[in-house]
Amino acid sequence: MNLDKDNIINYSPSCERNQQVILEHLQPYIPSSAKILEIGSYSGQHAIHFCHNQPDLTWQASDQFQYIQGLEQNFRLANLANLLDPIEINVAVAEHWPKTVFDVIYSANTLHIMSWQHVEKMFENISACIKANTLVCIYGPFKYNAQYTSSSNEQFQQWLLARDPLSGIRDFEAVQLLAEKAGLTLLKDINMPANNQLLIWQYKG
Ligand SMILES: C[S@@+](CC[C@H](N)C(=O)[O-])C[C@H]1O[C@@H](n2cnc3c(N)ncnc32)[C@H](O)[C@@H]1O
Repeated sequence: MNLDKDNIINYSPSCERNQQVILEHLQPYIPSSAKILEIGSYSGQHAIHFCHNQPDLTWQASDQFQYIQGLEQNFRLANLANLLDPIEINVAVAEHWPKTVFDVIYSANTLHIMSWQHVEKMFENISACIKANTLVCIYGPFKYNAQYTSSSNEQFQQWLLARDPLSGIRDFEAVQLLAEKAGLTLLKDINMPANNQLLIWQYKG
């Protein structure tokens, strides 16, 4: 969708770069007419790109309170019928999670930004919104066996920690434990460009 980037609040160049490849890898898994909840939508570029390219989807974007107004403005520009008004969700606040279930929960580049305590809360609170076969799809950088997948990710970690000591690239194994505790089964761990992963779990119910 050709929106002028100068008009997009919180425009993210990396979203622009990775949105198509994420969509291509996710599409085979997303059921038709799926209802999707996104955590940490920020500028909403992924939401707009996915909804534009797959009109049968219904997309519920969300983020912390301070990003909601920007999201609303960006979505007005996009003017897509399948893109719902964004809602406030801080993953750590159980009351913020919708009292409805979704086919897919999607979140990109969030686990290394939020604190580990919030990552734990996210996997705890996700239970309100999942049913049998719901997919939980997380995109971003991870460590495996305590090793970075690239030297650029190691440098990124230093940058993250200097900015916020509670943030940081997460260990895949620790996240996998949280997912298992939430009843999720790992379906796929896909190597993505720029040393990122796309992790897809399913709730078996
Ligand atoms: C780097 S941005 C990623 C934005 C977008 N998803 C992307 O891929 O570019 C990190 C996002 O995580 C969100 N985030 C951080 N902590 C959060 C929390 N506790 N609850 C919900 N979202 C959170 C931020 O508000 C921000 O939108």
